[in-house]
Amino acid sequence: MKLKITGPRPLYGLVKVGGAKNAALKIMAASLLAGGPCKLMGIPQIADVNTMAGVLKGLGATVDFHKDGSIVIDPSGVSKLEPSEELVIRMRASIQVMGPLLARFGYVKTRQPGGCNIGPRPIDLHLKGFSALGAEIREEYGYVSAQASTLRGAEILLDIPSVGATENIMTAACLAEGTTILRNAAREPEIIDEQNFLNRLGANIKGAGTDTIKIEGVRELHATDYTVIPDRIEAATFMTAIAVVGGEACIENTIPEHQQALIAKLRETGVEIIEGDNYVIAKRPWQKRLQATNIRTLPYPGFPTDVQPQFVAAMSLAEGTSEIIEGVFPLRFKYTEELTKMGAKVTVDGKLAVITGVPALHGTTLEAPDLRGGAALILAALAAEGTTELGGIEHIDRGYEDLPGKLSLLGASIERINGAKKRQAG
Ligand code: UD1
Repeated sequence: MKLKITGPRPLYGLVKVGGAKNAALKIMAASLLAGGPCKLMGIPQIADVNTMAGVLKGLGATVDFHKDGSIVIDPSGVSKLEPSEELVIRMRASIQVMGPLLARFGYVKTRQPGGCNIGPRPIDLHLKGFSALGAEIREEYGYVSAQASTLRGAEILLDIPSVGATENIMTAACLAEGTTILRNAAREPEIIDEQNFLNRLGANIKGAGTDTIKIEGVRELHATDYTVIPDRIEAATFMTAIAVVGGEACIENTIPEHQQALIAKLRETGVEIIEGDNYVIAKRPWQKRLQATNIRTLPYPGFPTDVQPQFVAAMSLAEGTSEIIEGVFPLRFKYTEELTKMGAKVTVDGKLAVITGVPALHGTTLEAPDLRGGAALILAALAAEGTTELGGIEHIDRGYEDLPGKLSLLGASIERINGAKKRQAG
């Protein structure tokens, strides 16, 4: 399975962003807490959603995909308290079932998710949170279990504002006795979305979106319908595509408030951005070069680490030198080796990448090393002279809803080759 991309060709038109992967996966996992079937709307059609559905089914839940794009999750049949080892290895977000299973059944055991292509990703903060709530944690032979007959509210300070730990602890604390105060919590919009979903189930959570979240334990939760927020990283990828390739696109189903760090940086580079109610227009005359700028990735509301690779693709064609500091996942520069094969001038030293912009890139044969690195290579290939063949696109299909299809609607020359099959939902 490969992508054949021919450039350079500017992008024009309208593109609609799907539901947020990083909200959908956590809300699917949190549905395990519900007292009945939950209908979830705005769930993106991506491979990771199918993997999470597999995890939930493996535990005994039913997950039905409907033609209108909604899914219905009924957790009433859950009887197994160990998510599939194979799926935990395939997708790290599988560990987000830990909090809900611990809260509801008092036990969960999983394989340690380990590292991934963007570096080591421990779960010590998730476990410290469960332990503070009264769970006994056992770690042996690459497995970890958490057990508690009763969870009790506690004051928990996260050493790092981890997104996954914030969400796992929030779900674990929902049914605990008493009050949990989670400090130095992550403030990502997806955490507000999860709070809203849990409160619709009957939970009592306040403060998501700030660094202090207060969870008053309740006795039981019921069922609800819920629509997840739009994917800010997908929207950011299209905005950055206009920076890299040039043209003009209206990016619909986007919350501009979620994009402020990126919008400020795109404007510095010379991209024109118009913010609407639920859309953003990005414009750049394709003959005009971008100006180099520096970024440092940080937890929200700082510049998102998930847009760092796409932004580096833009800076590789900018006038001047850019310094990019990766402040969240220090090893997240693997894709730059591929970018240099296209003629980009990037040197990496630990968490710093220095990019000297070049006037043009050239198409070649490349391999996507991970999800966002793969997206960056697509953007670079759209701007490069000649044809690029990009392998490893299963990484991209994990988290983007048909990115090649949406880019071709904007006029890109991009197609799946080598007998690539279209993925089925469900
Ligand atoms: C989530 C997102 C991912 C995004 C990241 C940061 C999902 C499915 N994934 O990942 O796309 O790039 O947030 O915005 O939502 N850490 C620890 N110990 C822990 C947990 C985390 O040291 O127990 C460290 C990590 O190694 C990393 C940093 O904290 O350096 C941030 O990680 P975290 O916010 O937890 O990211 P994820 O939730 O894994």
